[in-house]
Amino acid sequence: MKFASIVGARPQFIKAAPVSTALKNANHQEILVHTGQHYDGNMSKVFFEQLNIRKPDVNLKVGSGPHGRQTARMLMGVEKILLKHKPDRVLVYGDTNSTLAGSLAAVKLNIPLAHIEAGLRSYNPRMPEEHNRKVSDHLADLLFCPTQVAVQNLSSEGIRHGIYLVGDVMYDSVLQNIQQAENHSDILGKINLNTKDYALATVHRAENTDIPKHLVSIFKAFEKIAADGIQVIIPLHPRTQKIIKGLGISIRGPILIEPVSYLDMLVLEKNARIILTDSGGIQKEAYFFNVPCVTLREETEWLELTEMGYNVLAGSNSENIYNRCQFMIQKTFEFQTDLYGGGKAADKIVDIVAAN
Ligand code: UD1
Ligand code: UDP
Repeated sequence: MKFASIVGARPQFIKAAPVSTALKNANHQEILVHTGQHYDGNMSKVFFEQLNIRKPDVNLKVGSGPHGRQTARMLMGVEKILLKHKPDRVLVYGDTNSTLAGSLAAVKLNIPLAHIEAGLRSYNPRMPEEHNRKVSDHLADLLFCPTQVAVQNLSSEGIRHGIYLVGDVMYDSVLQNIQQAENHSDILGKINLNTKDYALATVHRAENTDIPKHLVSIFKAFEKIAADGIQVIIPLHPRTQKIIKGLGISIRGPILIEPVSYLDMLVLEKNARIILTDSGGIQKEAYFFNVPCVTLREETEWLELTEMGYNVLAGSNSENIYNRCQFMIQKTFEFQTDLYGGGKAADKIVDIVAAN
């Protein structure tokens, strides 16, 4: 069968990698379309170099911009590619504007659509991702859910058919890459970090970056944690870098670095004492490595993590972040191992798409 995979943002390269490998192993043809939503070397190219993914067959080079314009450009570009290559099925991943554009382009050409990482909901209508994933879920005929919660979300929206609980492709990716990461990454030595002695933090969500008082409050908490003697390492998303610079916020204590490669990130995560993040993917990776997590949001799509106590929500309030970080550092955990499947989600997805 011939598939077209639509990707464009950092987490999508990581999600597509195991699926791409599984497609190849099953002798399917894949056209990989990169929308160009992310384009800096450390947000895009490095993932294609490190992960076992084919190079994009086409890069639409859409770049950044307001949501409507960015999505519209992607839609036009993806449509053209689908008309040219005529795939039997389109695969989209997650909840970015690239996901939405890929979904719309596919269904308008009557090409069957599969959504990987389907059914997630924050129930926060102000998140751009919530619209992207809702629309994609309602357009797809195959919905690959990472969790039981996701299955229930779809069913409560009246979606009854084509739902498969397969586990999380990001877990596949971690299992496939951690050994290589540990063998090759020298990130701990480079930054002079001791195992289990530092906090790893990331911030990029619009609700945190686009409201200056939220951003200032989050970084105040990071400064306070660093002042207690725990190093705080922050690989900073370019969105956040630009906003911090624009606002002239000065940060003392935490170590700000450029976004790191996937292999470096896995090593940073695995060896962290605690992770503080507003990222979706990193909340799960914290759990994969048995590292407690404080989520810098008011809600999460990964309810199983907060229900088990591995993750706590802290929003952007400085005091909450600091106090919950202290609490999570002192708490002892027994991590359960199967919340996101057995690391074979991609193979399951490829078996199902090929049979449909
Ligand atoms: C996007 C996704 C978000 C996902 C995140 C992963 C949407 C609506 N959001 O958010 O769900 O969690 O990717 O990282 O699709 N920029 C650069 N260089 C790059 C990419 C971005 O400088 O290579 C800067 C630009 O100033 C750009 C800003 O980051 O305007 C935001 O980029 P964009 O892709 O629009 O959204 P993200 O915040 O990355
Ligand atoms: N990641 C990375 N380098 C970084 C930050 C994140 O490789 O500097 C990886 C991380 O390990 C995870 C994914 O990018 O696999 C998460 O992407 P991001 O936080 O940008 O997006 P989200 O998951 O919130 O959509």
